[in-house]
Amino acid sequence: MINNILEYYIETWGCQMNEEDSEKLSGMLMQLGYIKTNIKESADVIIFNTCCVRENAEFKVYGNLGELKRLKKINSSLIISVCGCMMQQEGMPETILKKYPFVDIIFGTHNSHKFIEYLHRARIEDKSIIEISSKEEGIIEGIPVDRDNSIKAYVTIMYGCNNFCTYCIVPYVRGRERSRKPIDIENEIKDLVERGYKDITLLGQNVNSYGKDLEPKVDFADLLKRVNVIPNIKRIRFLTSHPKDLSSKVIDTISDCENVCEHVHLAVQSGSSKLLKKMNRKYDRNQYIDLINEIRIKIPNVAITTDIIIGFPGESEEDLLETISLVKEVQFDSAFTYIYSKRKGTPANEMTNQIPEDIKHKRFNRLVVAINECCANKNKEYEGKTVEVLVEGFSKNDSTKLTGRTRTSKVVNFCGNPEHIGQLINVYISKANSFSLNGEEI
Ligand code: SAM
Ligand code: SF4
Ligand code: F3S
Repeated sequence: MINNILEYYIETWGCQMNEEDSEKLSGMLMQLGYIKTNIKESADVIIFNTCCVRENAEFKVYGNLGELKRLKKINSSLIISVCGCMMQQEGMPETILKKYPFVDIIFGTHNSHKFIEYLHRARIEDKSIIEISSKEEGIIEGIPVDRDNSIKAYVTIMYGCNNFCTYCIVPYVRGRERSRKPIDIENEIKDLVERGYKDITLLGQNVNSYGKDLEPKVDFADLLKRVNVIPNIKRIRFLTSHPKDLSSKVIDTISDCENVCEHVHLAVQSGSSKLLKKMNRKYDRNQYIDLINEIRIKIPNVAITTDIIIGFPGESEEDLLETISLVKEVQFDSAFTYIYSKRKGTPANEMTNQIPEDIKHKRFNRLVVAINECCANKNKEYEGKTVEVLVEGFSKNDSTKLTGRTRTSKVVNFCGNPEHIGQLINVYISKANSFSLNGEEI
C-alpha cells in the first residue's frame, strides 16, 4: 500500500489465454481503485494465475507459492489468490491448501469474473475460499480490461477446445468451445483501434472452428473479412490454427484481406503420421505438407511457424527422423519445441511405451539444431530488403536501438527515431541473425 492506495501484484504463467484473463482481473481491481505493483512485498493482494500444460509449469507455481508464507507473516491482511488452469484439475485446490494453508482464495478458469466477490468475502470470512466450476457458463461480456501493452492487443474470439489431442490437458481445464458474437469482437477491436492500437491478435485454441456454435452461422473467414474493414485497423493476426480445420476459404481470405498479416502459426506436433494418429490430430504428414504448399502458393512471403512435441509415447528413432525431415522440407520460420510431459487424466498419460527422460532430451537437442538452421535460412531471405516494422520500444539488449516486428512477426532491432515508437515505419534489413534481424530506419 502507498499513500492509502491499495496495490496488487499479479504473476501469470502459460499462454495468451491466461494473459488475457490476467488483464481482466487487473481491470476489475483497477476499477476498485487498486494500482499494480511489481513488488510483492508492498502488495495488498497477490494473484498467481497458473498453467498446467506441462509439469514444469506447475513446479514454477509451487516454488513461488512457498515464498509467500514469509510475506503473509509480515502482513497478515495480505490476500493471496491462486487461479487459472492448474486449479481446474481434480483435487488440486485441496492439495494447494494442504501445502500452503495461508492461501486465501482459489478459483478456476470459469469463475474469474467473480473475483471481486471472492475478494470481499476473503476480507470478512476467516477460512479459505475455493470456487471451481467444473462447467463453463456462457460468455460474459463487458468485463473491464487493463492491458499491459498500448500498441498490441489480444482479443479472444473463442474460449475452450473440443479437440482432445491425447497429450493435452487444455480441453479439461478450459471447457468446450464457445465463440463470442462477431458484433462484440468488432466493437472491442473498434475501441482498441480508436485508442491507437495497431496490432490485434484474434485468439482461440483453434480459431478455425470459430462460429460453429453461433446462430446465424458465421465462420472464421467471415470474421476476418469483417475485422479487416474496421476503419484504421493496421495489422490483424490470429492464434492458433489447427491444420484439420484450416480451410481453403480461410487461406484465400488471409490472402485477400490487406490488413491480415502474412503469418500462419500452424502447430504440426510431429512429422510422423503414426504419431499424429496416436495424438488424435486428425491429419497426416502428407495432408500437412499439402496445406503448407497451398498457403505458400496463395500468400506470397508468408511466414510459417509451428509447435512440435518430442518424446511422445511410442516415438521411435524413425519417427524423430520423420519430424526432422518435415522441419527441413517445410522450412519453418520458427518453432516452439516441447518435451512431452505426462498429464494426469489425458489418454497419453496411460500409454505404456513412455520414452525415458534422457532419450527425450537427446532427441530434443537434435530437433532444435534442425529448427535453428531453418530459422537462420528464412531470416537470411530478408537481408537487403526493406520491410514495414511496427516500432514497439527500445531493444532489451541494446537500449540505443529500437525494436519492433515485421508483418511476418520477425523481431527487428534497428537504429531509428524513438519518436516513432507505436508507429509503422520502413526499415532496411542489413543483417539477419538466427532469431532476429538488424537494420536501419529509412
Ligand atoms: N491449441 C493450440 C494448437 O493446437 O495449436 C495449442 C495450445 S497449447 C497451449 C500449446 C502447445 O503446447 C501445443 O501446441 C503443444 O505443442 C504443447 N503441449 C500441449 N500439451 C503438451 C504436453 N502434455 N507435453 C508437451 N507439450 C504439450
Ligand atoms: Fe490442446 Fe489440441 Fe486443443 Fe490445441 S487443439 S488446445 S493441442 S487439445
Ligand atoms: Fe494456456 Fe496453460 Fe491453460 S497453456 S490454456 S494457460 S494450461
